[in-house]
Amino acid sequence: MKEAWWEKAVVYQVYPKSFKDTNGDGIGDLKGIIDSLDYIKDLGVNTLWLNPIFISPQIDNGYDISNYYAIDEIFGGLEDIETLIHEAHKRDIKILLDLVLNHTSDQHPWFQEALRGKANIYRDYYLWADEKADGVAPNNWESFFGGSVWEKEEKSNQYYFHLFAKKMPDLNWKNPEVKRAMVEIAKFWLDKGVDGFRLDAFIHMIKDDFNKDVPNVPAGEIAIAEEYYANLPEVKRYLSEFISEIKEVKPDCFILGEAASATPELADSYIREDLCQTVISFDHFAERIIEQDERIPKGLEKRTLDAPEMKQKLKKWQHSLSEGKLPTLYWNNHDMPRVVSRFGDDTQYRDKSAKALALSMYLLRGIPVILYGEEIGMKNLEIRDIELFQSPQATSQYIQLLENGLKKEQALRRIASVNKEASRGVMQWDASEFAGFSTKANWIGENREMFYNVAVESQDEMSVLAFYKQLIQLKSEDLFTFGEVIFLETTDNILAYKRQYNQEEALVLVNLTGEEVVAPAWLDSYSDWILKMDSEDVIGKTVAPYTYKLYIKKDEE
Ligand code: GLC
Ligand code: CA
Repeated sequence: MKEAWWEKAVVYQVYPKSFKDTNGDGIGDLKGIIDSLDYIKDLGVNTLWLNPIFISPQIDNGYDISNYYAIDEIFGGLEDIETLIHEAHKRDIKILLDLVLNHTSDQHPWFQEALRGKANIYRDYYLWADEKADGVAPNNWESFFGGSVWEKEEKSNQYYFHLFAKKMPDLNWKNPEVKRAMVEIAKFWLDKGVDGFRLDAFIHMIKDDFNKDVPNVPAGEIAIAEEYYANLPEVKRYLSEFISEIKEVKPDCFILGEAASATPELADSYIREDLCQTVISFDHFAERIIEQDERIPKGLEKRTLDAPEMKQKLKKWQHSLSEGKLPTLYWNNHDMPRVVSRFGDDTQYRDKSAKALALSMYLLRGIPVILYGEEIGMKNLEIRDIELFQSPQATSQYIQLLENGLKKEQALRRIASVNKEASRGVMQWDASEFAGFSTKANWIGENREMFYNVAVESQDEMSVLAFYKQLIQLKSEDLFTFGEVIFLETTDNILAYKRQYNQEEALVLVNLTGEEVVAPAWLDSYSDWILKMDSEDVIGKTVAPYTYKLYIKKDEE
């Protein structure tokens, strides 16, 4: 059987608002991505995933769509996406668009129609319920963006369901019209030449009976209710009907599903010809708290990588998917802080930790998904004013931290380091005033850095950028695509694995932490292999912080 193209996909995730601005409005645009295609090609990646670019009130940076058939004017127009697809294909780069099927914007004409009343034919495109008692929401389920999932609609005295923001009502997938409409949208874009979709939040498509409450929650309070609105068995049935129709027109359409809370077992069941080709889950990350401070509430604590735990998780992801199924390999995306700040060390060991973590992840079996800027070692965006955060939670967290006695500066730093906006800073193209992203101040902010930018790193063979290019190049080899993965016994902080394919063999060894550890006893036996990548720490009996090594077995002939 001919191998599917995505088996060798290396995905580059671009957050369009933050990549490159060409018209000086401070917001990245499609022309900016088109202008950067040679840079992207030169990285060696072969697939581009764009976060949403459709018409949107931008309540959630484009995940609230009011017209799926047109490009938001901040990004450009239809002709720009056509050019982008065409120019990308010329360079053998595939394009994945972000398809949001769990919800729309409240400004979408479907919802506007639905608001007209119970008799409107679009009413049933969304999820409605009556109040439980006078002024009491239908149940106690909590929204991921805070507050109840229910919002009252005064005119009809009914509530509509929103898992995310209030202005993002959830669609009713049990209505066949919803599927039909979404299939049409997907086909429209496939017809324009896109190669697949990143499926946003699909695990939430189907909800349980609204009469169920989360148990043991005090009356009047709410609680996250994943058991009722995530990964319900019926999701597969509805998704399959949708995907099967898409595949009729484009059998090799690539579906990169976002299954945030999926375990390997669940992921395995979502990876199917008529569902997703692979999924993005958060499950493989493991962190531990490194500073006990009772003034800091849950979720805002200082954390670092929990190396032993993460190793176990990675092993599980590598070994428990069925034959032929590939996991995604990734360290960060637009919903979480940047890898070098979150799991590495963005001060003392910035380059080394960026490289070590990249090597440890991307030569495993699976499809790498690299966040724009990761390849130059971009760190978390430094947000210097609480007013600049877009997430409403930031302000309440700030107030709480100040009340608990933190200084303003400390409170800001704490929030900025865990907030998802930390990853959305603009691409650092050079060291000039606006980071080479735009000619003026931009929508979110930038880190201006002398050494961590494309201009400087392109000239430096030892840069993080040069390392990523080499790594992506290696990843395209059969050994790192098809080779078997064998984990080696090591102390907790070291991740070591072999890849084997026919006669070829490689060994990856990485110290995942900022601590010095004892070298594994078996390491000497690889001394006659070629050291292809090396952080050049002297290894006697100790392995320095963030040491990384890639050995390749010498050709026998
Ligand atoms: C996904 C996106 C996230 C968005 C949410 C709602 O999780 O990655 O950014 O807020 O879906 O669409
Ligand atoms: Ca612009």
